[in-house]
Amino acid sequence: MVSALLRQRLGINIDHVATVRNARGAVWPDPLRAALLAEAAGADGITAHLREDRRHIRDSDMEALRAGIGIPLNFECAATDEMAAIILRLKPHAVCLVPENRAERTTEGGLDVASDANRLTDFITPLREAGCRVSMFIGHDPRQIEASARIGAAVVELHTGHYSDLHAEGRMDEAEVELNALRKAAAYAHSLGLEVHAGHGLTYDNVAPIAAIPEIIELNIGHFLIGEAIYVGLEAAIEEMRRRMDQARA
Ligand code: PXP
Repeated sequence: MVSALLRQRLGINIDHVATVRNARGAVWPDPLRAALLAEAAGADGITAHLREDRRHIRDSDMEALRAGIGIPLNFECAATDEMAAIILRLKPHAVCLVPENRAERTTEGGLDVASDANRLTDFITPLREAGCRVSMFIGHDPRQIEASARIGAAVVELHTGHYSDLHAEGRMDEAEVELNALRKAAAYAHSLGLEVHAGHGLTYDNVAPIAAIPEIIELNIGHFLIGEAIYVGLEAAIEEMRRRMDQARA
């Protein structure tokens, strides 16, 4: 058993349940049903990304998740006026701000908080006042960490996508360099009083070194687990990820 102090939260991103649904314009599979299964399997939170183009999660999904799940909802979005209005209406537990680009397949880089600090400060102030824990999805650049702390974010989520890509390509020396940068960034963010999360591209094979970083108290994982669920079911996939995280942290 892993002690309460060391236990890392596992948030499940259910976007790609909606991707499969939307591929056929059907009403199934239902992201809420997946979220409830994840909750039953021990997930600590549900993440869903309402993109400007609504390519997967839709407004009605966010509403159903907000009303239907018993664990925290992490509302991922770009910092736009449209999203602010939806967030202030739904009041999710957490909001994760990401850069968004219509042409990208997934969230490719971190947010440039340092260059957009004034606008982001104005954006997050009402969300904080509404009780949302606001997180910045950033790379490991210390300037972005400092800017996140300065604008009053409660959390930074470190983008593990580059590490995951290098790992998948077998470029292990470079993956190790990236991992070291993530370790340093996690320690630095923690020293500034930020809560530290991480995610993007994490799988059974690459999760352990990230899960072992002591300052990272939450991982958000989606695409791999939704894919794995095709073979073994969502609950079994989540339980196996949980086991690997706990083992890495023990
Ligand atoms: N965290 C954030 C901020 C993300 O944008 C994503 C991808 O939507 C994830 C975590 C999960 O990444 P993946 O689906 O690759 O596990």
